[in-house]
Amino acid sequence: MHSVSIKNLNEMQDFAIALARDLKMGSILCLKGDLGAGKTTLAGFIINALLERAEPEIITSPTFTLVHTYDSPKGTIWHFDLYRLKALEEVYELGIEEAFTHGISIIEWPEIAHTITPHNALWLTIEHGDETEDSRKIIMGS
Ligand SMILES: Nc1ncnc2c1ncn2[C@@H]1O[C@H](COP(=O)(O)OP(=O)(O)OP(=O)(O)O)[C@@H](O)[C@H]1O
Ligand SMILES: [Mg+2]
Repeated sequence: MHSVSIKNLNEMQDFAIALARDLKMGSILCLKGDLGAGKTTLAGFIINALLERAEPEIITSPTFTLVHTYDSPKGTIWHFDLYRLKALEEVYELGIEEAFTHGISIIEWPEIAHTITPHNALWLTIEHGDETEDSRKIIMGS
């Protein structure tokens, strides 16, 4: 499977900026990876790339609120964290179908929503790299 090696936060941001260029209304990004792998960090870089503000926003994890939304020039960004959810019903209650059809969706811990995620979704897995504390590997495909 295709993978990308990332040396540090700077390279993660470069990856995010390149990825953000391809995102549009209806795009879905599913971010897999262990606790602390860097899903929220990557999501934050992508959201800031899409917001195109002079000053970057501080993007916090939607761990407890489950979803945060942002108005970007390309449409509403929905940033989900499904870690705490136990049933698909709870995923629907967050408005995920609205996000899929009328927004740009970025989903951490997407596994529970696998069966309802449209086929156009891009699935990425972030792993710790072998080199340094800040190195990562991003694997494409579910
Ligand atoms: N290259 C890198 N890419 C992403 N994060 C990095 C990198 N190097 C260091 N980090 C650090 O690793 C940590 C990743 O935490 P983050 O909250 O993004 O992980 P997460 O995958 O969202 O975890 P959780 O499963 O708890 O939601 C941050 O402190 C970040 O600064
Ligand atoms: Mg996170």
